[in-house]
Amino acid sequence: MITLGIETSCDETSVALLDNEKVIGNIIYSQAEHSKYGGVVPEVASRAHLEKIDRLANALFDQTKRSISDVGLIAVTDSPGLAGALLVGVSFALGLHENYKIPITGVNHLEGHIFSVMLDHPNLEFPFLALVVSGGHTALYKVSDVGRYELLGQTVDDAAGEAYDKVGKLLGFPYPAGRAIEEASMTIDHTDLTFPVAKVSSGTFDFSFSGLKTAVKYHVAKIDRNEIDTHRASVCKAFQEAAVASLVNHTRNAALAAGLTRVALVGGVACNKHLRNSMAKEFGDQVYFPQPRLCTDNAAMIALCGYKHYLKNDLRFPKMNPSKGI
Ligand code: KG4
Ligand code: ZN
Repeated sequence: MITLGIETSCDETSVALLDNEKVIGNIIYSQAEHSKYGGVVPEVASRAHLEKIDRLANALFDQTKRSISDVGLIAVTDSPGLAGALLVGVSFALGLHENYKIPITGVNHLEGHIFSVMLDHPNLEFPFLALVVSGGHTALYKVSDVGRYELLGQTVDDAAGEAYDKVGKLLGFPYPAGRAIEEASMTIDHTDLTFPVAKVSSGTFDFSFSGLKTAVKYHVAKIDRNEIDTHRASVCKAFQEAAVASLVNHTRNAALAAGLTRVALVGGVACNKHLRNSMAKEFGDQVYFPQPRLCTDNAAMIALCGYKHYLKNDLRFPKMNPSKGI
């Protein structure tokens, strides 16, 4: 069966086609419009989705030599995300559903990220621990089956990707800054600089990144503006060491407590090589991550998640819910 996935929850407009579980097309338009503002501007995002979505869908059908009449299921992100941005994807999906009488399902964006790992590792077995680490979310879930998730811990303030982006802004990198920080930190082998990572003493596996961001801010404020270029790489490296150590420690502790051996690392920050290598050191061949293009927002993961629910006879009508977690 052919599934059409649609993703517009934040600043990527994406449409994808799956033939059963195999990706046959996955077009992702990353909105460069936001970089000059230093973060995502909701109104700009909605407008950019609106301008692009039908053109991208046409390009997808051209590229894959399929047509809308081949589609057996539409899967669209309906939560969580920016309200106006979600509305564009959901309205577009509902239009196709009504017009062509194609079955439809709403998909939770975080659940979509979890299934992104199965696009590249279709045989990954339940149960596993999923670290969803993106610009909007940082959370650990025990994934027991399609539709069965237990939240083990989440950030109490900033998401990890958000911390990367805010630190990037302090250092003069354009938004989003995750990749630029990673690249700058790779230009040196070592730094003596260290930053602390806050521990959340709630007995859970909750994360906190705002203290780390503030520590970087105070450190950068003490540097002479003319000297910033000489310090940038070491600040990036020290920040990244602290952020990744926190992600790895919490994941290890949660896996031990929940008795889980397999770990999936998903979301935009899962592109980060230092995080991937540190997780691999900890979990060996039991850590699974998607290729970088499938870590950041994309419609293929939304299509796969929708298709998994279809196989379980568990479709649900899209209902926009900007703030709903899994
Ligand atoms: O999953 P995603 O595309 O969007 C959300 O759902 O939030 O993640 C985007 C986030 C941004 O914060 C970006 O800076 C971060 O992922 N990111 C990275 C890297 N590539 C993207 N963070 C660290 N290292 C990277 N290589
Ligand atoms: Zn995302």
